[in-house]
Amino acid sequence: MTLELSLNQQPAHARQGSSIGQPLTRRDGFLKVTGAARYAADNHPPGMLYAVLAVSSIARGRVAALDVEAAKAHKGVVEVMTPKNRPALAADPDAKDHPFMFRLDLLQNDQVRYPNQSIAVVIAETLEAATEGAALLSPRYEVMPARVGLDGAESFVPRAVGVGGPAVQHKGDVEVGLKSAKTRIEATYETPAQYHNAMEPHAIVVAWEGDTLSIDTPSQGLAMAQGRIAGLFGIAPENIHIRSPFLGGGFGSKGMISGPQVLGILAARLVGRPVKLVLQREQMYGPVGHRAPTRQTLRMGMDGEGRLTALDHHAKTASSTFDDFFEPAADASHTLYASPAIATSHDAVRLDTGTPLFMRAPGEATGSIALESAIDEAAYACGMDPLEFRLRNYAEVEPMTGKPFSSKALRECYRQAAETFGWASRPLQPRLMRDADGFLTGWGMGTATFPAIMFQAEARAVLRADGSGVMETGAQDMGQGAWTAFAQIAADGLGLDIDQVDFRAGSSDLPNAGIAGGSGHTATAGMAIHNAGAAVIARLADLATGDEGSPLYGAGNEGVLARGGRLYRRDDESRGESYAEILTRAGLTEIEGHGKGAPDPASQEAYAKHAHGAVFAEVKVDPDFGQIRVTRLVGAFAAGRVINPRLVRSQYYGGMIWGVSFALHEEAITDRRSGRIQNANLAEYHVPVNADVPSVEALLVHEDDPHVNALGIKGVGEIGITGTAGAVANAVWHATGVRPRRFPVRIEDLLG
Ligand code: MOS
Repeated sequence: MTLELSLNQQPAHARQGSSIGQPLTRRDGFLKVTGAARYAADNHPPGMLYAVLAVSSIARGRVAALDVEAAKAHKGVVEVMTPKNRPALAADPDAKDHPFMFRLDLLQNDQVRYPNQSIAVVIAETLEAATEGAALLSPRYEVMPARVGLDGAESFVPRAVGVGGPAVQHKGDVEVGLKSAKTRIEATYETPAQYHNAMEPHAIVVAWEGDTLSIDTPSQGLAMAQGRIAGLFGIAPENIHIRSPFLGGGFGSKGMISGPQVLGILAARLVGRPVKLVLQREQMYGPVGHRAPTRQTLRMGMDGEGRLTALDHHAKTASSTFDDFFEPAADASHTLYASPAIATSHDAVRLDTGTPLFMRAPGEATGSIALESAIDEAAYACGMDPLEFRLRNYAEVEPMTGKPFSSKALRECYRQAAETFGWASRPLQPRLMRDADGFLTGWGMGTATFPAIMFQAEARAVLRADGSGVMETGAQDMGQGAWTAFAQIAADGLGLDIDQVDFRAGSSDLPNAGIAGGSGHTATAGMAIHNAGAAVIARLADLATGDEGSPLYGAGNEGVLARGGRLYRRDDESRGESYAEILTRAGLTEIEGHGKGAPDPASQEAYAKHAHGAVFAEVKVDPDFGQIRVTRLVGAFAAGRVINPRLVRSQYYGGMIWGVSFALHEEAITDRRSGRIQNANLAEYHVPVNADVPSVEALLVHEDDPHVNALGIKGVGEIGITGTAGAVANAVWHATGVRPRRFPVRIEDLLG
């Protein structure tokens, strides 16, 4: 176990009482700011070679020729891996055993099915030699016309969208609802393709030792990655050791092992030496997933009181030609607004792109931008303030299922955010506010929502005779603060101070912590940790309460409290003894306990589980040039128990800033003739820089939701993006009187 997989050497804060709820700074922050945190590509095993991908410059066709000889003749180049000499795999990379196994491009043939697809790997003594070798391959292609854009191919209704959800769903009859409405709106919105640009590109350092694999690579799901690699190479999962202590961002792109990561493993096998492979920024625009473009049409009907009579949400999206992932954008209309009739539907085209996949709030982010824009349009059609309209229409029970959920907390989010923002002084009509410099000023709002999901996780806890503890789970910290939040839960679970617990994570050799995705990591692995701690304490209490020599003798397990490294009698806290005393007297050096985290099926059946929030935005628009700036964001979020308010706020900030990015910045532009992405770099693919980020405030709304899990934890990673983009768009309307219908909103959209 390498040092950085265990962080108790950097004690956080001395403190008293519960760790949960404390605003601890990131326990790995010291390692990160001093450069001591080792990311995957920072590893250099002895004898390591550098692998560089050669990627296709066409979108569709086949590789007719590669000048392998020229590359191999280059000084320092050791080998060139192509479909001709790529080591055999135990499974076809195009096989799909279940819907969440995604097809990979592993040089299985000479076909090109999207731009930036891997077509060869050059392995060399230096990064420079490998890069130059890749350039010398000079591929020749047989090019076929690329299918580009949402009208670029024949559309069809996918069998499933998102994580296996039906593509078409309804309750009630929207046509009847629309007919009976007093007021109706219909509007179409377009959202662009967005590509993953985590600061740390996908990278892998891999060494084979016989049939054992040693891997450093960023992963949001270590056990899943292990399983996928095991299947492809026909080796036992336990022979694959993956270390992933730190990720420089993931956002969904590192949820499943990507093709290039597996190519690194193949390259190491081919040359019989350790290999490092790091994606260049441009190579991120294809093989690691992206957010699919959408075109969404919403129809709404309202009665005389501004209540929805019908809500119809249709989304058209795109997938690749060879795999299935369909952005479930319309499903955003399932969870927020009450209407007697709701219909959602999807259709899709197949394009010559890499397969779109999960990107922060997949479905909710794209869907909510259209839904929140349309809700705003509906409010105006009824002559109502957009907040008043939402307060009238937000659902008391989950709209599609009728299950109870925590919408009281949503009401509180609206109230707190509106008050902090100062919404009450907003004129209803657009173009009425100007600042001292003459900029058109607009205020808009959006509702945020994200399901409270749990997966499966395990953890192992140990109490040692010296009274210290160990907690192990293969959790993944992609910057969100898992090292810290989980250590807090571990400390409370073991009844110890945080610096008495050696919390270990980030390795596939540890118990399976599930996936850091779906905003479910803290709830899932957190519950496993909590339960592992409880299992150890229960064993310890058994020892003490059954021992005549203990002041706890006869108290019974339920009659005992664990805190500060001691067990106490619940009815008399003066009677207790330390963990060390109990273990020593029992002659034990340590005791161990295991815990699981998983959703409770009965509670799943009875309750709908969502986090909620409300975001308010201010924009300023240059009246002559149409330039838009977001100047202020206030969000209020209710997401169950807050493990660490500093980290949670930080997650909301990140989500909200991505919302600004969605509204105003991000867009992958595809050349219609070649199918290539024209701005596959961080200079031309716009993301907000510091100067684009306004004042951002995130309010944490208290919420006890006893139905999600024993700790009451929901997720916070994705919800921030869901309300914000719509709020910004609605603020643009309020500033200018122009309704944004395509995203990102462009200057030319505002010029008349
Ligand atoms: Mo996320 S898109 O669940 O990593």
